[in-house]
Amino acid sequence: MKYLKIALVTGAANGIGKAIARRLTTENYTTILVDIDRENGEKMAATLGERALFMECNICDEKSVEALFARIKNEYSRIDVLVNNAGIIRDNMIWRMPAEEFDSVIDINLKGTWLMCKQAAIMMRPLNSGRIINISSRAWLGNRGQSNYAASKAGVIGLTRVLALELGANGIFVNAIAPGLIDTPLTQKLPADVREKLIDAQPTKTMGKPEDIAQAVAFLCDERTQFITGQTLYVDGGKSIGAGL
Ligand SMILES: NC(=O)c1ccc[n+]([C@@H]2O[C@H](COP(=O)([O-])OP(=O)(O)OC[C@H]3O[C@@H](n4cnc5c(N)ncnc54)[C@H](O)[C@@H]3O)[C@@H](O)[C@H]2O)c1
Repeated sequence: MKYLKIALVTGAANGIGKAIARRLTTENYTTILVDIDRENGEKMAATLGERALFMECNICDEKSVEALFARIKNEYSRIDVLVNNAGIIRDNMIWRMPAEEFDSVIDINLKGTWLMCKQAAIMMRPLNSGRIINISSRAWLGNRGQSNYAASKAGVIGLTRVLALELGANGIFVNAIAPGLIDTPLTQKLPADVREKLIDAQPTKTMGKPEDIAQAVAFLCDERTQFITGQTLYVDGGKSIGAGL
């Protein structure tokens, strides 16, 4: 049987995850689109042709993640690339934020990413190869109203650095991408004046596209990309540079 390269993308039913799944499919991966949104996930997988398929999984439920990896082991016996992209926001100033909204953001963005990394590590270690790419956010540097989100995305960067140490000897590279302002259904919902202010605060005076994140993912999992691990790649139009005139 011809060897298939298997990539798994979480949160692939919408937004940035769709662009990542599309890009990896064109890079000759068999792409598993994982999401809790079955309707959009199946629709997206169908548009990508026979090398893409949808698998439903709630990434913050350990049993659901274990069942997903048991199925992948059974059907493919391997995973080459894991992209942890699923994430949510529940913004509010800390004095108005219910503790449940801290818990839900940490549960999905950080614990869900950790659970997926754990199973991927178990499957990748005996193969002595693999790439894990965790989607963090430029917001980990700080955004008002995002104490839960920034903490979760800072956690993702810490997790990435530790896994680079733990898995490096097995030839598994683990990196994070920190997107800035990206034009997705999420940011399209912002009031026009807020969107304009955010764009004006960008050094480039533009928003990024989901395809810009997919390009960074393709670079980090390209076999020609070697010796880069534990890093955070900002794809944010320079916003992370901070103050500047
Ligand atoms: N859009 C931006 O400007 C931006 C900026 C920085 C970082 N990010 C990060 O990029 C990633 C994708 O963002 P997006 O804008 O495409 O968001 P989105 O809301 O369009 O898509 C997120 C996807 O994750 C899925 N999901 C949510 N909870 C899940 C769970 N428990 N299990 C499985 N799937 C689940 C959703 O169903 C959805 O399909 C997120 O991690 C986000 O934090 C986005």
